Amino acid sequence: MKEITGDIRYIGVNDHQLDLFEGQYIVPNGMAYNSYVILDEKIAVMDTADQHFTEEWLGNLREALGGRKPDYLVVQHMEPDHSAGIAAFMQAWPEAEIVATAKAFAMMKNFFGTDFGDRGRKAGEGDTLCLGKHTLQFVTAPMVHWPEVMFTYDRQDKVLFSADAFGKFGALDAEEEDWACEARRYYFGIVGKYGPQVQAVLKKAAGLDIRIICPLHGPVLTENLGYYLDLYNTWSSYGVETDGAVICYTSVYGHTAEAAELLAEEMRKLGCQKVAVNDLARCDMAEAVEDAFRYGRIVLATTTYNADIFPFMREFIQHLTERNFRGRRVGLIENGSWAPTAAKVMKGMLEGCKDLTFAEPAVKILSAVNETNREEIRQLAKDMMA
Ligand code: FEO
Repeated sequence: MKEITGDIRYIGVNDHQLDLFEGQYIVPNGMAYNSYVILDEKIAVMDTADQHFTEEWLGNLREALGGRKPDYLVVQHMEPDHSAGIAAFMQAWPEAEIVATAKAFAMMKNFFGTDFGDRGRKAGEGDTLCLGKHTLQFVTAPMVHWPEVMFTYDRQDKVLFSADAFGKFGALDAEEEDWACEARRYYFGIVGKYGPQVQAVLKKAAGLDIRIICPLHGPVLTENLGYYLDLYNTWSSYGVETDGAVICYTSVYGHTAEAAELLAEEMRKLGCQKVAVNDLARCDMAEAVEDAFRYGRIVLATTTYNADIFPFMREFIQHLTERNFRGRRVGLIENGSWAPTAAKVMKGMLEGCKDLTFAEPAVKILSAVNETNREEIRQLAKDMMA
């Protein structure tokens, strides 16, 4: 059990059994479901954990309580990776109350068949809860990542409990890894669509003196908080984080892959420091999505398929458009043995995205890369780097 401050303890759990987080994201280093307890005259517990860890989490909580009873369970987010233990908690401590937004109580009724009646206290923007020395201030954060979400600010220890925000994939007992890598994949996969809502809550957070961030996933952040806040600002405003480019392709017999690699080589020759190349059929699609939002340049290369485009490319572009993809320089490479239409289809799918600039020329491969294509690829590389 880890001490976060003199009165705040970590009581979360690590999950190394999970195959797919939220039913779709691989988690090679597992996942952490964080939970905390604030020990004051009154005791507040911050969220619960995933259903497979209710007993372990309750054990951690009991150990932290040292025989005392909790007064409040603060529910910041109702997604089951954090809320599954609510009913067990309420049964274990019949005098405890839940503190949550009105929307969270409505969700409790749907998940548990009860909103716990008079054992609930509704919290809204700016509401406070005094525990003794510690006063908790609630900050609503709708759509970061669900509509009922709230953050909690402990005025005494200057700790921001940030729900899913500032979280990452990876268990806390796994080998230490670069925070941004798995936080970016997590952010764009899970919250990427809700940039404006993240911006709104960052503005509210800017008015608070924050010394520690306690998210519901990933490590507690205690140093250099400006780094994390700046990254969240870049990500949620769809800004470019890293100078470079990403080339995402699908290829059936290797010819489109060859074109993608040739283009990468040309762009590197022109001084592009970092060119990431992703085979969408084989890579982790969530890695390709985070790359698309990380760099300012993206090239999409695919095959004409059933008078449309190859399925992995269709899925990838859908991931981008539903997350408000915008503000990038885009290059297109199409392949088709008799009636290539892929470039037109890809451009059409991106039509609703704001502030895209299409680089020229769109490369048209008729089965295999020929000399004309090599010249087109050199020209496209130049225009991508313009
Ligand atoms: Fe970690 Fe949105 O749940």
